[in-house]
Parts: sequence; C-alpha cells; structure tokens
Amino acid sequence: MTLPENMSRRVLLMKLGMAFNACVGAVLAIPILRYLLSPIVSGHKGAYPRWLGLGPLTQFPAGQTRLGTFVNPDVQPWDGATAKSACWVRRIDGENLQVFAINCAHLGCPVRWFPEAGLFMCPCHGGVYYEDGTRASGPPERGLFEYRYKIENGNLLILAGELPTPGSPTASLVQIGKFPCG
Ligand code: FES
Repeated sequence: MTLPENMSRRVLLMKLGMAFNACVGAVLAIPILRYLLSPIVSGHKGAYPRWLGLGPLTQFPAGQTRLGTFVNPDVQPWDGATAKSACWVRRIDGENLQVFAINCAHLGCPVRWFPEAGLFMCPCHGGVYYEDGTRASGPPERGLFEYRYKIENGNLLILAGELPTPGSPTASLVQIGKFPCG
C-alpha cells in the first residue's frame, strides 16, 4: 500500500485510531442519549400523574382496609406483571376513604396490613403505622403517602402512576382525602 507523500505511517495510524475511537464513542453515546431524551421522544410525557381505576367501590367494604391494584399508565409490552402496582384502600364509611401507597415512607419497602392489630407494618426495618396511615413507630419520619381519589359511576379512581416520594405530585404529604371530580 502506498501512502500519500506527506503522510507518514504514524500519522495514518493515528488518524485511523481517532476514527475508530469516534465510532466507538458514537455507539456508546446512542443508548445514553436515548435514555436522556426518552421522556420527549417516546411520547410518554404527561403519563403521570393520571387517574387510574381500582375497580368498583363495592370491592372495598366499609370499615375495612383492602389491597387495591392498578396498572401503571406507562406500560411496555414486556412489563408483564410488573406493570401492576398496589395500594391499600381504607374505606371508613360511604365515600369517605383513604388510599395509601403501598411503599413505606422510610425506604420504600411494601407495607402489609394486619387487621387483627389494626396496624400497617414494614418488613424491612420495623416501621409501623396506624390504620389511618400515621406513623406509629420505627424509622419512618412520617406517615404513609396517600393518593388523591375520586368516585365516578361507582368506581374508585386514584391519582397515581409513579412511586410517591416527598414532593411528588401524585401523593400528598398530608391527608388530602376526596378529590373533587372533573
Ligand atoms: S423501609 Fe420500612 S422501615 Fe425501612
């Protein structure tokens, strides 16, 4: 192979190396850019928060706390069962309810309801909450997160879609209760 007069072998190899590095950099940058731009280009913008159905209100008897499930709005075909999220629904009476996020306010482990004790308990670090979601003991610094809810045509809907955290628009830091319809 003959090289141009003014190009040494060393310069040629350096340029080939730079071209190769540029190609590798571009290949590595594509997934990072896709991740960073996905909220804009994937059309998922505005997926949260959204009113999501928990089913007929009759599934939640007055005076009881029951598990409710909803499907996240930002679902991919490969999500399978992970597209579903759970929450705890406490129906006090009539249309007076509390809907708690299932995740502990400490580090997010799923809390369980123990009707005999009237307490929510977290299996991770022993966090305990009263039936109204307020903190009873343990590491959590606050009570359970609550979803806003409304009842439409006999169905219970909550404003949800993402894991609630302090400051999240989908879960209140204080008890909000029933959200006005419309
Ligand atoms: S995650 Fe529940 S007490 Fe730590």
